[in-house]
Amino acid sequence: MKSPLFYILTLSLVLLGVQSVLAQDSLYQPLPTVKHPADNAWTKDKEELGKALYFDPRLSGSNWISCATCHNPGLGWGDGLPRALGNGQKELGRHSPTIINSAYFDFQFWDGRAKTLEEQALGPIQSTGEMNQNLDELVKELNAIPGYVTMFKNVFGNEGITKINIAKAIATFERSIISKDSPYDKFSKGNKKAMSESAQRGMDVFFGKGKCTFCHNGPNFTDSGFHNIGLKNHGPLKENLGRYNVTKDEADKGAFKTPGLRHISRSAPYMHNGSEATLEDVVEFYNRGGDVAKNRSPMIMPLSLTEQEKKDLVNFMKALEGKAINVTVPILP
Ligand code: HEC
Ligand code: HEC
Repeated sequence: MKSPLFYILTLSLVLLGVQSVLAQDSLYQPLPTVKHPADNAWTKDKEELGKALYFDPRLSGSNWISCATCHNPGLGWGDGLPRALGNGQKELGRHSPTIINSAYFDFQFWDGRAKTLEEQALGPIQSTGEMNQNLDELVKELNAIPGYVTMFKNVFGNEGITKINIAKAIATFERSIISKDSPYDKFSKGNKKAMSESAQRGMDVFFGKGKCTFCHNGPNFTDSGFHNIGLKNHGPLKENLGRYNVTKDEADKGAFKTPGLRHISRSAPYMHNGSEATLEDVVEFYNRGGDVAKNRSPMIMPLSLTEQEKKDLVNFMKALEGKAINVTVPILP
């Protein structure tokens, strides 16, 4: 005869198992279709115009840096560097994030200082550190290129080439850069062979013991929040205050936007300062509960993952890579 404790333990294990299965099914959220803002409706011509602008180095003061220099399709729409190299090859303070699925973000930039892609787009063009271009000058320069004059006229009618229309076209192109149909999506929709067993175990770690979904949740694996996860300083800046720069709230010192994790295996290195070279390094970082205690989120704590669980977690993140995002580099007007 087994002790009552045995039955209680068995029952709780079964219940826990049931709960985690239920939890995972109910946690799956497919990516919704992209919404275009009411004042910037999608048209194919607008997307094509935005694509040309995105790849055009003439948008920069030096005429040799385009958006694609730092958000390069071949490098997961990032630049593969810890920190971006801006105007004059000068190293900037922050890592170039991927622009994949930025259409879904409630905030843009690591500190969320822009809300929309339209608002975001003119930032890097004017920034002296990045593309170092005067916007009035840019409007003049584009007006001197007949191909652009025609394209803007087709898309925006008599408004033609204006700063805001440049931003609208680029934002429309960015909204077409979407990662979806990953092995994780296929698995969650019923194809149980779509993810390896290791990735499936990694999914349990992600949603369970690893506590990743405290912050990486929803269809795009972000809570649209800002957290200080306890990263060490890295790069040219003495201090990277992050969200504090926007809110001036002490609690936001060192807090950065939770990035989405879809397609993330393609855009190493990681974090606002590029301090983690690989997904393995990211997992080690979380496993030790971060590096710097000051102002760190209480949700970051040592995880005691086994070697196998760490591998499984990495394989789960790799299973978030969607269908290849293929673009043809445009021939510029
Ligand atoms: C010199 C490199 C560089 C160039 C050129 C550049 N970016 Fe960026 N981009 C960055 C860096 C670095 C950040 C993060 C900056 C920050 O958060 O303070 C960023 C952030 C972004 C974001 C926010 C993504 C997110 O997850 O928050 C978008 C969108 C973006 N850039 C689009 C563009 C577009 C469009 C262009 C061209 C008009 C462009 N970038 C040009 C380096 C660059
Ligand atoms: C307290 C909220 C929180 C928790 C919990 C959390 N993250 Fe993060 N994650 C963030 C934030 C915020 C960043 C960006 C931090 C920065 O750059 O300063 C980030 C960055 C990342 C990145 C880098 C993405 C990129 O584009 O650079 C990966 C990968 C990642 N987290 C995976 C995980 C995994 C796996 C777990 C669970 C073991 C986890 N996170 C737990 C908030 C969290």
